[in-house]
Amino acid sequence: MKRLLPTLRADNAPEGLISVLNTLQIAAKEISFRLHQGALAGVLGSTLDENIQGETQKKLDVVANQLLKTLLLESPRVHAIASEEEDSIVLSPNSGEYLVAFDPLDGSSNIDINGTVGTIFSILPKPETPSNDESMFLQKGRHQVAAGYVLYGPSTMLVMTTGNGVRTYTLDQTVGEFLLTKDTAAIPADTQEFAINMSNQRHWSNAVREYVEHLLLGEEGPRQKNFNMRWNAAMVSDVHRLVTRGGLFTYPWDARNPEKPFKLRLMYEAAPMAMIVEQAGGAASNGYMPILDIEPEHIHQRVAVIMGSANEVQKCVEYHEKHG
Ligand code: AHG
Ligand code: MN
Ligand code: MN
Ligand code: MN
Repeated sequence: MKRLLPTLRADNAPEGLISVLNTLQIAAKEISFRLHQGALAGVLGSTLDENIQGETQKKLDVVANQLLKTLLLESPRVHAIASEEEDSIVLSPNSGEYLVAFDPLDGSSNIDINGTVGTIFSILPKPETPSNDESMFLQKGRHQVAAGYVLYGPSTMLVMTTGNGVRTYTLDQTVGEFLLTKDTAAIPADTQEFAINMSNQRHWSNAVREYVEHLLLGEEGPRQKNFNMRWNAAMVSDVHRLVTRGGLFTYPWDARNPEKPFKLRLMYEAAPMAMIVEQAGGAASNGYMPILDIEPEHIHQRVAVIMGSANEVQKCVEYHEKHG
């Protein structure tokens, strides 16, 4: 089986990018190891701190962030990082050619129940004249040179794109290497499976209410087919399912908290996942435009997310258009 680095070389990825991806996979292996140690390593539970998003940080959010941060800032190819768990961007002492944004531990609420969690990363080119502040990160998702996620499940998987399709690697624990286990990913255009947190139903927009109502009506409703539902509460895990067998994942606008009408973050959740999904033949929208075409205004900006099987995403977008 092919190892990660030779596969990237065969794909003609630039050496600098391969080096950054290598750093990321080293961090992922260590995070995977610590997660599998679980309670034995005393890493479960919460800290006393909150992150910039107002979320209580789990110990593993902090451990994973620290690992990625330390390794990436040591890389000669990295210019700066942005993380869910860091208030602001962090400049590297090395003036590398890449910017890396990441969600160190996605699905934190699954940590204490031994559920699936992940890591999400987005790699952007450093602008020609870098501002050395947050504004250099504020590039459309289309500009990403690589993106991907690591899923820490029964096996640890790295799913990644450098803009030339999606490759899946599985961590072989015996040799400590990510090995290529799937060459391509192709999300079917149609699906009968969706993922949404139904507990927010009363706070949704009319567009999303009607869309989901019609899904639930099944064969008797306007969609004329039955739908099944899944919700893992970790975007990595929910999106991995649709990358594997199709589906629609959405975390839409909701009116719970007027100051935070969206949950997911554009730069290190929505945009990298959108790149993966598009590269696998699916679609990703905020209801009105492709996520990859959104011009970011802030590194911690939040956004509505609808992604997965192309025809189903299009359907959901039509409900948004209808309701204005
Ligand atoms: P994070 O753990 O990185 O803060 O992200 C959690 C996100 C995402 O992974 C998931 O889709 C969503 O939160 C789950 O939200 P609910 O708890 O509302 O289901
Ligand atoms: Mn969080
Ligand atoms: Mn997350
Ligand atoms: Mn997180």
